[in-house]
Amino acid sequence: MTQGATVIAVDGPAAAGKGTLARRLAEALGLPFLDTGLLYRAVGRRVLDAGADPRDAAIAEAAARALTPADLERTDLRGPMADMAASAVAAIPAVRAALLDFQRAFGRARGAVLDGRDIGTVVFPDARVKLFVTASVEERARRRFLELRGRGVAADPAQVEAEIRDRDAQDANRPVAPLRPAEDAVILDTTALDAEAAFAKALALVRERLDAG
Ligand code: DC
Repeated sequence: MTQGATVIAVDGPAAAGKGTLARRLAEALGLPFLDTGLLYRAVGRRVLDAGADPRDAAIAEAAARALTPADLERTDLRGPMADMAASAVAAIPAVRAALLDFQRAFGRARGAVLDGRDIGTVVFPDARVKLFVTASVEERARRRFLELRGRGVAADPAQVEAEIRDRDAQDANRPVAPLRPAEDAVILDTTALDAEAAFAKALALVRERLDAG
């Protein structure tokens, strides 16, 4: 990794608030932003549209290779079906390999803040700063439930929590690029922090590390 391209990795489990946080960090630092979860979501969506099983490696790999920027603009990339399809295709090594070059090229071009699960461990092991943003599963479920309710989506709190636990297990236990903090990641636990406090803390941590070179 050249010193020229400042790459900031923001990893963590589902519904930890890392997306909003990473987007705001990018804005504050004047860096491009990539939500890498969207890539997996778009692949899952393509497989579902084809009427296929998101665990089908050959079909999912073909979908990953056929991905276009327009796929990332779709409005149906969130929701329980899309969540589970994304998590299923993300466990397939050939899908991850197909998406790796895109993510690396994006970050190398002008530097970037990337949010995902394996940015600090696999995609950019040399990232200048690595944050691992997490919160208790109960708090993440509570936030996801409120977010759904805010969007007018009917949801059952117990079911939201069960889905988050399933996705955590699927993301953390897959053999390839499982969800785990990089050894040199700073862990930011946001259980007791609101979005504003979490952002302020993250920005301070990033600035401190960038200043330290
Ligand atoms: O961050 P998200 O919830 O939008 O991610 C959707 C799924 O994609 C999630 O279940 C894990 C997977 N994912 C991944 O394996 N690696 C990434 N870098 C980003 C997401």
